[in-house]
Amino acid sequence: MFLRNAWYVAAWSDEIGAELQQVKVLGEKICMFRTQGGEVIALEDACPHRKLPLSKGRIKGDTVECGYHGLTFDCAGQCVWAPGGGRIPSAAQVRPYPVHEKYGLIWIWMGNAAIADIEEIIDIPNFDSPDWGINRGAAMELQCNYLLMCDNLLDPTHVAWVHQSSFAAPATKDTPLRVSKTDEGIIVHRWMMDHEPAPFYKKVIEFDGNCDRLQHYEVRYPAHALIRAVFTPAGTGGPDGPLDDRTFVMDSYNFMTPTTESETRYYWFQLRNLRPDDAELSEMMSEDVRVAFEEDRAVLDEVQIGMDEKVSPHIDLSIDAGPLRFRRQLQAMIAEEAMLDKKMQS
Ligand SMILES: [Fe+2]
Repeated sequence: MFLRNAWYVAAWSDEIGAELQQVKVLGEKICMFRTQGGEVIALEDACPHRKLPLSKGRIKGDTVECGYHGLTFDCAGQCVWAPGGGRIPSAAQVRPYPVHEKYGLIWIWMGNAAIADIEEIIDIPNFDSPDWGINRGAAMELQCNYLLMCDNLLDPTHVAWVHQSSFAAPATKDTPLRVSKTDEGIIVHRWMMDHEPAPFYKKVIEFDGNCDRLQHYEVRYPAHALIRAVFTPAGTGGPDGPLDDRTFVMDSYNFMTPTTESETRYYWFQLRNLRPDDAELSEMMSEDVRVAFEEDRAVLDEVQIGMDEKVSPHIDLSIDAGPLRFRRQLQAMIAEEAMLDKKMQS
C-alpha cells in the first residue's frame, strides 16, 4: 500500500526525451515521452486492446501508436484512431498522469488527478540561488522497500558504522537524538559539540580545528528527505549558537520512489552554501556521496532480505523512535486515503 495522492519523482528531466520510455512508479507501468514542444507526457503503459505496453509502439507527431494494431492515443490518453473502421469504442483510452518538471526532476501525481496541485511539490528555497552550489548523481536502484531508506534518513546514528570514511565522527555513536513531528513529516536532530570534523566535511569546510555539528534528518510524506548538515567552528554552534561567517551548510535532498513494494529508485542532490561555481568541488562531493550512498544500498538490500527471511523476531531501539513515528503516521494517512476512496466509490 502506498500514499497515492502525492507527488513522486518519476525520472531526472534528462532521462526523458522524444522516444517512448517505460518507468515504474508504485508498481504501475507508465509510458513517458516528450512532445515536439518539449512537454513531458505520462500515460498508462498498456493499450486497452490487448495490453501491449504503449512504450513498445511508436511516436507519431504528438501521438502514440500501439505496436500491435496501431491504436493511436493523444497526450490526454484518448484513442484518436483504431483499425477496423467504424466508431472508436468509448473505452479506448488510457489513463493520463499529471506530471510537472521542477528542480531538474519530473514529478508525477499517482492519485486523483482532480486534486493534483503543483504547489504541493516540495519547496527547495536555495535551488536557484547563485550563492549555493549543487552536486548530483545518477538515480540509484535499491533492492528494498522505500521505507527502509526512509528509516535510514531518519537515523543519524547509522553513519557511525556505515559511513566510517565519510560522515562518521566519535560523537555520532551516542549523542542523544531529538525527535519532533511537523505537519509534513518527522525530524530527528542533534548537535554534537567540539569535535574533529568527519572526513567528508573536513575536505570542504573553510575553517581549521574542531567543529560544532548539526545533524538534521527530516523525512516528509510520502518519502522525501532533507538532510541538513551544519558545521561551524567549535563554540559557535548549538541551538542558540551565534554561528559564524565560516559556517558550512549542506542540504541533501533525497527522493525515494517506490517502483514496486520491494524496489526503490533513489534520487538525490546536495546544495551547499560555499564555492557555488567550483565544478571540481561539486564533482568530488558527488563522487563521495555516491560512494557513501552505495554503502547504504549494500546494507539496506541485505536488511530487506534479512527482514523477509527472519526466523526470530527483530527488536527496536530508542534510536528507532523517529523512523517508527514516521511509519505510523504514513500508515494512518494511507488508511485514511483508502477509506475516503471507498466512500467516494460507494
Ligand atoms: Fe547513510
